[in-house]
Amino acid sequence: MQLAHLLFTQGFGTRRVCAGLVEAGLVRIGGAVVDDPGLEVDADGFVFEVEGVLWPYQASALVMLNKPAGYECSQKPRHHPSVMSLLPPPLRQRGLQPVGRLDEDTTGLLLLTDDGKLIHRLTSPRHHVPKVYQVQARHPVSEEQLERLRAGVALEDEPRPVAALAAERRGENALELTLAEGKYHQVKRMIAAVGNRCEALHRSRIGALELGEDLAPGRWRWIGAEERPALG
Ligand code: URA
Repeated sequence: MQLAHLLFTQGFGTRRVCAGLVEAGLVRIGGAVVDDPGLEVDADGFVFEVEGVLWPYQASALVMLNKPAGYECSQKPRHHPSVMSLLPPPLRQRGLQPVGRLDEDTTGLLLLTDDGKLIHRLTSPRHHVPKVYQVQARHPVSEEQLERLRAGVALEDEPRPVAALAAERRGENALELTLAEGKYHQVKRMIAAVGNRCEALHRSRIGALELGEDLAPGRWRWIGAEERPALG
């Protein structure tokens, strides 16, 4: 693939802008400036530098973000900035979108990708990849509440009771809830249905993919091909 075209596919602007970046000496390969936009490069495993930042070539982009509170997952946010504002311009430019949504006040693991098929697969009601949430509750969490969450609770507009795959106490007022689906405000509605209230909500895991301790709130990282099977 020609270098300028490769930059274009990675979100660095129009073809003309990308050629301009190369001609201006802002692109390096292996530490050395290259100034030929037509240079043929092998995209597979290719790493390049634009204005001092290293980028791996990604045919499709998949990243995880540690979403802070105060950001909306919507593309057209109404009251708060969009999570997209936490991503660098090339990722925004190549059309990454959140995979499902977290509420504005929910924190933690959010996936974003430009792979439409992956979004469809991960958000399809038939794809039951477990999602793990840490809930801070207003009232002490009782064993009875946990049992009701596991057995299934009635939610408005849901024809059948909705059950958690797992519900474990994590402190006097804290619990960990594992859900197979991602219905609208599902955690908050389930907690309310058992007579408690969700005061803070954090998603720590999707499938076998863990947010981990290393990614600070507001930061993102690539999810490599070797990690994708963790999403089921
Ligand atoms: N359930 C909720 O209620 N809110 C979220 O953000 C995610 C799951």
